Amino acid sequence: MKLHVVAFGCQMSSADAGELAAPLLAQGFRAASEPEDADAIILNTCTVRQHAEDRALSLIGRLKPWKDQDDGRVLIVAGCAAQRLGDWIRERFPHVDMVVGAKSIDEYPRLLGDALAGKLGALAGAGGSAAPAGADAAVCAPVTVMRGCNYSCSYCIVPSVRGREVYRPWETVLAQARVKAAAGAREILLLGQTVNSWRGPGPGGKPAKFSDLLRAVSGVEGVRRVRFESPHPRFFDDELIAAMGEVAGAGDHAHLPAQSGSDRVLALMRRNYGGEGFLALASRLRAALPRVELSTDIIVGFPTETDEDFRRTLDLVERLRPAWTYAFKYSPREGTESARALPDDVPEAVKEERLARLNALCDRFAEDALKARVGRTLEVLDENGGYGRTRDGFRVRWTGPARPGELVSVLATGIAKRTLLGECR
Ligand code: 5AD
Ligand code: SF4
Repeated sequence: MKLHVVAFGCQMSSADAGELAAPLLAQGFRAASEPEDADAIILNTCTVRQHAEDRALSLIGRLKPWKDQDDGRVLIVAGCAAQRLGDWIRERFPHVDMVVGAKSIDEYPRLLGDALAGKLGALAGAGGSAAPAGADAAVCAPVTVMRGCNYSCSYCIVPSVRGREVYRPWETVLAQARVKAAAGAREILLLGQTVNSWRGPGPGGKPAKFSDLLRAVSGVEGVRRVRFESPHPRFFDDELIAAMGEVAGAGDHAHLPAQSGSDRVLALMRRNYGGEGFLALASRLRAALPRVELSTDIIVGFPTETDEDFRRTLDLVERLRPAWTYAFKYSPREGTESARALPDDVPEAVKEERLARLNALCDRFAEDALKARVGRTLEVLDENGGYGRTRDGFRVRWTGPARPGELVSVLATGIAKRTLLGECR
């Protein structure tokens, strides 16, 4: 029997999809790359913007014929949109076997047994005695360290669908990192909505912070790099910056979502910083970690955003020079403060135009960063034989012998879209 997994949204969503798949893989399911080949499908949804939610809901609808072909098939819908719209999904799409909201992921193995043991057992029986698929052998493996968010950015639905911050215990995180490294992982991606706010008892019950956890994970046997996403600006203290400098990967790239460059808009967004404060953090990181590359998120067309506000955003991006940027049009989300209290008054055409202008500027910085690497020999982690990433996160494809799981030296010779091309001897 075969399992197909789809995840919309962020890396947390992909990591959660991996956790949702684990009990089925342990029962002997194997990966199916296409839904048509699958006996079971796990669809992890996102609700951060209307567009992300619509795409997930549309896929649920399109899976009806797949399910109608054989009612023994299993469709599990999970994640953030499932949290927000659970009952509506159950009613609107009766072909869904199980809905698991993002807040229920820790109870999911039990819920799965209660809801679907019979159906999954029948599929497992029909599929013969396939051996368990075993642990995930990905070279870059995610490890979730915390879930939820204690902030209240006015546009953001995440606190309501994911709840308050919950930190995974020190030992759980390290045990997961060890299991993944033993299965072949060489890069660990520590994940959380505000990942660097992690805290908890460390070894011997002493209070520990994210900087301690980062160092400890980097010390796990087999681990060559550790990265983390998404950090919150407030938790980049001196200890974390020092730890980043010691850990390959962590000191090479940081994702710093700015969202806007206008102090007026940032205040309406309730971001707790202004443009200058944000740029000061970027400067602090660059001064302490000379090789660090920065990336960012920007929202255009936030309620009441004027041309002048948008100009300030372009200004901030010019000064930040991000190696890459995720830019979004504002999308009002039901129940958020901005959707309740502010009009979605920037016309769609203006949002489109601002997005295009911002993307043109960001493309220039992304190209500059790639061009600066051509002609240089880069340290690349081979993820699947001839494809991998540099320490600072740039994608590289190269010719030469395949060495999955190894750090290789690649001479960058060109660029294809956002990927560096190269040669390895
Ligand atoms: N509209 C547009 N973009 C949003 N984001 C979060 N909420 C919204 C929204 N309502 C963006 C932010 C965040 C990223 C994950 O998604 O830029 O950093
Ligand atoms: Fe990730 Fe947020 Fe989307 Fe949930 S709503 S999948 S946390 S981006």
